[in-house]
Amino acid sequence: MDNPFSYTAISKSKAVARLARGELVILPTETVYGLAADATNADAVLKIFATKKRPRFNPLICHCANLEMAAEIGVFGEAARVLAATFWPGPLTLVLERANGKTIPDLVTAGLNTIALRVPAHDLTTQIISDLGRPVAAPSANFSGALSATSAKTAFVALGANIPVVDGGACDRGLESTIIALSETNPILLRPGALARDEIEAVLGDKLATPGPDGPITAPGMLASHYAPRASLRLNAGAPEPGESWLGFGPEPGRPGAALNLSPTGDMAEAARNLFEYLRHLDEKSPATIAVASIPETAIGEAINDRLRRAAAPRNLG
Ligand code: TXA
Ligand code: MG
Repeated sequence: MDNPFSYTAISKSKAVARLARGELVILPTETVYGLAADATNADAVLKIFATKKRPRFNPLICHCANLEMAAEIGVFGEAARVLAATFWPGPLTLVLERANGKTIPDLVTAGLNTIALRVPAHDLTTQIISDLGRPVAAPSANFSGALSATSAKTAFVALGANIPVVDGGACDRGLESTIIALSETNPILLRPGALARDEIEAVLGDKLATPGPDGPITAPGMLASHYAPRASLRLNAGAPEPGESWLGFGPEPGRPGAALNLSPTGDMAEAARNLFEYLRHLDEKSPATIAVASIPETAIGEAINDRLRRAAAPRNLG
């Protein structure tokens, strides 16, 4: 890359043309930026795995323009229809049985007989998918295992492959979508995310099960270590120790200046929006350890703490 501080932004129509040619683009969504390819084109999808250094066993989410497009590739039962009608477009991914027919290559689903579907709430991206006329496979725009990107520039720089980006501004939610599996009898929360568990349970009138290690369904991408900065993380910290960077939450009178606060007012949505950018910012200063204040486990706190625990997990980055 010539200049690591600039990035190549392209228009909607150029993005559609690139996707149609089997090339990659970085697209905005309300959750995080995605590295997108035409989901019906196996050669294009292969480029996603290569660029992200993503293991092939880890399937991708197909992003659709609307429920109609999604219903061509996934089997919607009653619960799936209700959830889609309530929360799409929005940060909810449904894992459903694959529909018959071969429009989506096995590479996308990593050979599973299920498929992950969502309709993102970002006008630029839903228009691009709609103009393309086909679903778009898009994992988060970052190297496998690293922090997700919530701005166009961060996504462009993080991948370091000069892949053009459609700049849709800062992501509204800042955390990946919540993933629910509905292909079994009881709905399972595969990944906590930007849509809180209780909102989904209220609509389902049912509790979401959490997958056990031996359960029938898991999200293959939910490795213990993920979303990892280079620094190690110390969670639920009361205060920084000497030499540690500090990531605070809520009012902190008297805290020294060289620190970041996810939300000085204790607003969970603001904390979610800031999480990845602030971790990245602190990590750029190469501290040995980032100490992180404790965050309530309520509502999207479940997803924030999930990401923090995975970022803090022992890893072997090789
Ligand atoms: O918010 C989001 O979901 C973002 C934006 C770009 O849409 N995308 C995203 O994709 O987070 P990715 O690839 O980073 O995470 C997708 C997760 C992985 O953990 C993967 O294993 C899981 O979804 N997944 C995909 N298909 C699945 C399937 N058929 N069954 C179970 N898990 C699946
Ligand atoms: Mg990801």
